[in-house]
Amino acid sequence: AVFCTGVGGLLTWAWTSTSADSTVGKVAFGRPLPVPPLATSTVDGNKRVFDLRASKGKHDFGGETAETFGFNGDYLGPTLRATRGEQVVVNVHNGLDEVTSAHWHGMHLPANMDGGPHQPIGPGATWSPTWTINQPAATLWYHPHPHGETADHVYKGLAGMFIVDDPGTDVAALPREYGVDDVPVIVQDKAFDDDEELGSDTGMFGSGGVLGDKVVVNGALGPYFDVTTERVRLRLLNASNVRPYHFGFSDGRPFALVGTDGGLLDAPHETTGVTMVAGERIEIVVTMRPGERVVLRSTPAQLGLDWFHRRISGANDSFDIMELRAARSLRPSPAVPAKLVDTPRLDPAQARHTREFSLSGTSINGKKMDGSRIDAAVMKDSVEVWKLSALDGELHTFHVHDVQFQVLSVGGKAPPPHLRGWKDTVFLGQNKPVVVIARFADYADPATPYMFHCHVLRHEDQGMMGQFVVIEPGQVPKLSPEHADHD
Ligand code: C2O
Ligand code: CU
Repeated sequence: AVFCTGVGGLLTWAWTSTSADSTVGKVAFGRPLPVPPLATSTVDGNKRVFDLRASKGKHDFGGETAETFGFNGDYLGPTLRATRGEQVVVNVHNGLDEVTSAHWHGMHLPANMDGGPHQPIGPGATWSPTWTINQPAATLWYHPHPHGETADHVYKGLAGMFIVDDPGTDVAALPREYGVDDVPVIVQDKAFDDDEELGSDTGMFGSGGVLGDKVVVNGALGPYFDVTTERVRLRLLNASNVRPYHFGFSDGRPFALVGTDGGLLDAPHETTGVTMVAGERIEIVVTMRPGERVVLRSTPAQLGLDWFHRRISGANDSFDIMELRAARSLRPSPAVPAKLVDTPRLDPAQARHTREFSLSGTSINGKKMDGSRIDAAVMKDSVEVWKLSALDGELHTFHVHDVQFQVLSVGGKAPPPHLRGWKDTVFLGQNKPVVVIARFADYADPATPYMFHCHVLRHEDQGMMGQFVVIEPGQVPKLSPEHADHD
C-alpha cells in the first residue's frame, strides 16, 4: 500500500496497482458469515442495562489477520437491541490506552448521552449514558466519536448495530428472527498491509481517508450465509470510513427495500440496486428459491462526481461481498406487505427556521469544527428546514445527531424512493442541494451541543463538523465550562 497525507483542503492522491483488481468473480466464499451476537442485558423493571468494553485485539478476517479494536471482542461489537419505551443504560468501559467515546448514531436522546466529542471516555474509565427509547423501529448503530480520532477507531473495528423495536411500527410479516432470516450485514472496506496494522493511513484516498481494496462483512472476507427461509431480511450498514457502495445481486434480481436509516418505509420499493454512503443503513428483503446461490455484489456507485469515478473507474470499484446459499427446502415466509407503516410528513410551512450548510474542503460554511463555538441554536419542539450542499465536487455527506429528517428535495426534484423515509445521513451531490426537514423534539440543553458533520470520517476528523444546541424559549445557549474548554 502507498502512504499519503491529505491535509484539509489539499488533496494528495495515491492508488496502488493491487487496489485496481476487481474482486468480482474471484471470491471463494469459504466461511460462514459471522453474525454479531445480540448483547446480553439485565432487565430491572423498565430498565435494560448493557455492558460494552472497548479493547485491543487481533482479528482473523479470513486469510488476513490484523491488530484491531473491538467492543466485547476483537472486532466490531455485539448488536444492542431495545424496545421503544424502555429505559436503557449502557455501561461503556474504555479498556484502550487512549481516549474514545460511544456515539449512538441515529438515536433520539439527550445531548449529554449522545457520546460525541463532548463525552470522552478516558482510558480505564466507564461512562454510563441512560435514555428512554422513543422512536420508530429502526436499524441504528454505535461507534466512537472522539474528536480527530473517529476514523481511526471505527476503522480498527469499534462499531456495532443497535436495533430499535417499536410495537407501533414493527411489521409482523417481515422476517424477524435474528441471525436466521433477519441478518445484520456490516460492510467495510479494508486495506490490509503486511505488518498486520490496520492504520487508517494505509490506502489513503485523497483527504477522505482509507479506501480499501477488500471488503469485509461482519469482519469476514468473502463469507456465505445459509438461508433457510423463503425470504431473508438483510440489515445493511455501511460502516466504512469513506467508500460508497451500490448494492445489488449477481443475477440482477429485484428485491424489496423496506427501510432506511431511521425506520421502515411507508411501502416497500422494489428495485435491483441501492446506493449507500458511509453511515447509512437500509433494510431489504430478498426472495430465494430452494437450493440456489446468489451473490450480494457492489457495483460502482453513480454519484455524479467526476473526480471519484476517475479514481475508481469501472470494475475497480466492484466487489462480490457475500453469497446467499439457499437450503434445498425453505421454510415459507409471508409475502412482503404492500403497506408497511404510516409516516407523518413534516410540513415546510411549519418550519420556524431555515438554515443553509455548505460543505467544501473540510469546512462547513467556511468554518472548521470548534468545540467552543455553537453554530446553531434550535428551539425545542420546532421544525426546521436545512438546505445542504456540497460545493467542491469531493465526496461529502451530511449526518445530524439526535433527529431523523425527511428529505424534501434533491437538486430541486422530489427525492427518489430510497430517500423518502426517515434519514439521518445523506449523500450530497455536486450542485444538487438536498433540502431536509426535522423536528427537534423533547430534549433541550443550552450547555451541551449535538454535532452535524460529513460522515466521510476523515473529513469529520479534519474539521468538517459543526455544533447545535436545542434550547427552550427564553434560554440562552452557553457551553458549560467542560464543553467550552474542548479544544
Ligand atoms: Cu455516525 Cu456523528 O456520527
Ligand atoms: Cu466530506
